[in-house]
Amino acid sequence: MTDRYAVFGHPIAHSKSPQIHAAFARQTGQDMCYEAILAPLDGFAASVTRFIDAGGRGANVTVPFKEEAFRLASRLSPRARRAGAVNTLTFGSDGTLGDNTDGAGLVADLTRNLNYTLAGKRILLLGAGGAARGVVEPLLDQQPAALVIANRTVGRAEELAELFGGGIRACGFDAIDPAFDIVVNATAASLAGDLPPLSPQVFAADALAYDMMYGRDTPFLAFARGHGARAADGLGMLVEQAAEAFCLWRGVRPDTAPVIAALRT
Ligand code: ATR
Repeated sequence: MTDRYAVFGHPIAHSKSPQIHAAFARQTGQDMCYEAILAPLDGFAASVTRFIDAGGRGANVTVPFKEEAFRLASRLSPRARRAGAVNTLTFGSDGTLGDNTDGAGLVADLTRNLNYTLAGKRILLLGAGGAARGVVEPLLDQQPAALVIANRTVGRAEELAELFGGGIRACGFDAIDPAFDIVVNATAASLAGDLPPLSPQVFAADALAYDMMYGRDTPFLAFARGHGARAADGLGMLVEQAAEAFCLWRGVRPDTAPVIAALRT
């Protein structure tokens, strides 16, 4: 019987995950199907239970259910526990394993696809919500020279920095000391077509500006480009986090480059 997987979110119609996993399955010869499921805002756990009862083997979880998926999992990977959010569920006879592949996806895109070395670099992370929280530890693992978290609400940035001990500075957008080699936008500002109030001086010479959003040019990327930075959207991260989940479920690592290229055309 074909193994079933799905992505749960609200909204979900726009999701590229079914297309990405179908491409991975074709490429690696895996007998599986992957669908998008719109879970009601107050019915995520019930939707997941129905899917498991119908034979579901695993699932991805997207906005706004990642924290709920964290609570729903009966076991957590260390990286999911530290991220406080789950984007990948694996269903087994011994319960549900929650993992978080977002940070690994970002690091893979930055280092493998965009050829950036993170070690020794100054990294600025914009935002302190769920999206930012999921990538702090994998970024730190790359041993940057500095990681600074800037957020509209400074207290949230401070809380996030404290979770990971010393070595991370937290501040508001008006108190960012220039300049950074990599600036990652993990705020929800791009979703609303907004630009976080940044000084152009945050970008060092040859800086990379990375927006976790994908699918359209964002004010953040336009601003960065206008001040000499190289701009990258989050499509590569999306495909890389999917590859990491696929590898967890199927034990085989797909080749992401042709899938990213196909999505770009
Ligand atoms: P997500 O899971 O997508 O990270 P979230 O947890 O609601 O969603 O966090 C949204 C993040 O985007 C927060 O860092 C938020 O800043 P506040 O903590 O001050 O609310 C940030 N954000 C949202 N809209 C923004 C905007 N227009 N400008 C700057 N930051 C914004």
